[in-house]
Amino acid sequence: MDLAERLASVRDGTPPDAGSVRAMVAAAVDGSATRPQLAAWLAWVFRTGMSDDAMVALTQAMADSGRRMDWGDVPTIDKHSTGGVGDKVSLVLAPLWASLGRSVPMISGRGLGLTGGTLDKLEAIPGFRTDLDADHLRKQLREVGCFISGQTSELAPADRVLYALRNETSTVPSIPLIVGSILSKKLAAGVGTLVLDVKVGSGAFMQSVDRARALAEALVRVGLGAGMATEAHLTAMDRPLGLAAGNAVEVNEAVACLRGGGPADLRALVLAFAGPGSEAALDDGRAFACFERMVVAQGGDAAWLGRPRDPSGIRRVVVRANRTGLVAKIDAGSVGRAVFGLGAGRASAEEAVDPEVGVVLQTALGAKVQVGDEIAHVLHRDGRGLEAALAHLDVGIRVDDMGPVGALDLIVR
Ligand code: URA
Repeated sequence: MDLAERLASVRDGTPPDAGSVRAMVAAAVDGSATRPQLAAWLAWVFRTGMSDDAMVALTQAMADSGRRMDWGDVPTIDKHSTGGVGDKVSLVLAPLWASLGRSVPMISGRGLGLTGGTLDKLEAIPGFRTDLDADHLRKQLREVGCFISGQTSELAPADRVLYALRNETSTVPSIPLIVGSILSKKLAAGVGTLVLDVKVGSGAFMQSVDRARALAEALVRVGLGAGMATEAHLTAMDRPLGLAAGNAVEVNEAVACLRGGGPADLRALVLAFAGPGSEAALDDGRAFACFERMVVAQGGDAAWLGRPRDPSGIRRVVVRANRTGLVAKIDAGSVGRAVFGLGAGRASAEEAVDPEVGVVLQTALGAKVQVGDEIAHVLHRDGRGLEAALAHLDVGIRVDDMGPVGALDLIVR
């Protein structure tokens, strides 16, 4: 079959088979398929879906489109989240696992839209570098046990080509395309065991439990089919995770968790992923010591981590409860929109983020509050996005007499 026949076949509603998928990925990378052809293929695949065999072929072909990282016989583990508001789990989990003797080669991304990116958060630490070369990564993995770095241009280049077109053609939310995109990068990064955190709710990519479960199940089947030990958990993103959403404010909260404190939901999720025996490493300082070693190895200023700061140009507005009662709702989507508008997020890959702005909640879902109590601190720069942020929080946070009704369990069964 030539390219035109393959296109006509998906156009007419036949899901592409493994061979056809491999040919399209090759054509995307070597330039033999034009952008309109690829865009049309993506749009039709969005409609037809794909078999598991074809998704495995997509994942492997995308992973093989660039250089594969190879850690020799070192067993590696990684966690990937589909993204949410206040999700700083990776910052805690990578050094925690490393402190327990695991090797964690974590290749992370930047934020886009409402969901923050792990790299943006870490870059709030002065000097922290996320553009490390393969030799540096190998040495750091051996000596520290973990790294969190950015995707190099050699890692799954097919994903960059296809993802940009998906963004332009509104075909991002397709389960086969998401599966191929996420898993190809993990396969190329040499991950042996993969723990997936599929977020569900208003602050997530997947807003319904059914869609999130379908994605989680496909990720596990295809991950196993491509040779990675893969597990997936559905976790709540109807409210933010923890109290802080932004960049520097999330690093502060991750540090508190690494020192045995921090919000209960963040700690519970980290411990659920880290597995038995991990609690002590948070409480006795081993995980934090490992985080400090990672920060230093990546050029960051470890002294910044514990230092009280008053960042210049940042002002704080306090949001207060307008009645006495129980916190019934803290909508993740509303907090995400507030934080995004303040400048902590970006709408397109080229934009810079402001490391210091954000929202720090002063109360949690279900808590009792009195009228006038502090509900949230809004950190803004020169008023950028402030009015809209306050409006989003006004709609998104509700106090009533009943408390939360129908909130998702932190780990959705
Ligand atoms: N994250 C990715 O890396 N790819 C997707 O397609 C969606 C989320």
